[in-house]
Amino acid sequence: MSVTGRPTVTLKLATSLDGQVALADGTSKWITGAEARAEVHDMRAAHDAVMTGITTLLIDDAELTARPGGVLAERQPLRVVMDTRLRCLPDSAFLKAGPAMLIHGPGVDPAELTAAGADCRQVALEASGRADFHEALEVLRDAGVSSVMIEAGGVLAASALAEGVVDRIAWFRAPKILGGDGRPCVAALNLEALEDAPMFKRVSVREVGADLLELYERA
Ligand SMILES: NC(=O)c1ccc[n+]([C@@H]2O[C@H](COP(=O)([O-])OP(=O)(O)OC[C@H]3O[C@@H](n4cnc5c(N)ncnc54)[C@H](OP(=O)(O)O)[C@@H]3O)[C@@H](O)[C@H]2O)c1
Repeated sequence: MSVTGRPTVTLKLATSLDGQVALADGTSKWITGAEARAEVHDMRAAHDAVMTGITTLLIDDAELTARPGGVLAERQPLRVVMDTRLRCLPDSAFLKAGPAMLIHGPGVDPAELTAAGADCRQVALEASGRADFHEALEVLRDAGVSSVMIEAGGVLAASALAEGVVDRIAWFRAPKILGGDGRPCVAALNLEALEDAPMFKRVSVREVGADLLELYERA
């Protein structure tokens, strides 16, 4: 739990050297190597919840389960999707893989997804028209979650950074370059001054297979 009483938030990024998470068409399997991907499963298992954005789910059909050593962990993190308009598919691999929470905005009917097993929680909308991040963290706190790992694309990562809720970054960086037509790991922050940039302090760097894992904490 963070000092403010909300769950601590770790932003996991798996990128090329130039900070891209996918090709322009969304292809992202696989940027980092097998060792890094295995370590991500250990990290999922060590968090109370794993959160992604609906676009990642729709593109990757990801389960987001923790499978350390290739085996489904007995204790799974709560799997959470920020999905303002409830675009998650009832027959998605994500919902079939077990208990999952969809955080959505007002004015959408959760009946079909609830019937498919999803725990649908309504929050207010942010000024951007998306499900409110701070309220989502309150929902998670009230559900007993004290640590969340965000594993999403650049849009949700940018929201988390802009809202100032990222306590740690775990950045896996592969020795390849995808170029500016790829998808950046952090979407637009609309900064007007360098002093406004979210700042982090690097606390460790180590090799994971051919990749590097850099750990940062909020400065
Ligand atoms: N390499 C990696 O580590 C990694 C990890 C995950 C994903 N990816 C790749 O990233 C790509 C998708 O990235 P993306 O940036 O387009 O999507 P994303 O970050 O996964 O999801 C963004 C969507 O989440 C929804 N959302 C709901 N509440 C939000 C909030 N408060 N703030 C921000 N978003 C909110 C929005 O859609 P609604 O408003 O409609 O709900 C938004 O468009 C895929 O190609 C995927 O493969 C890479």
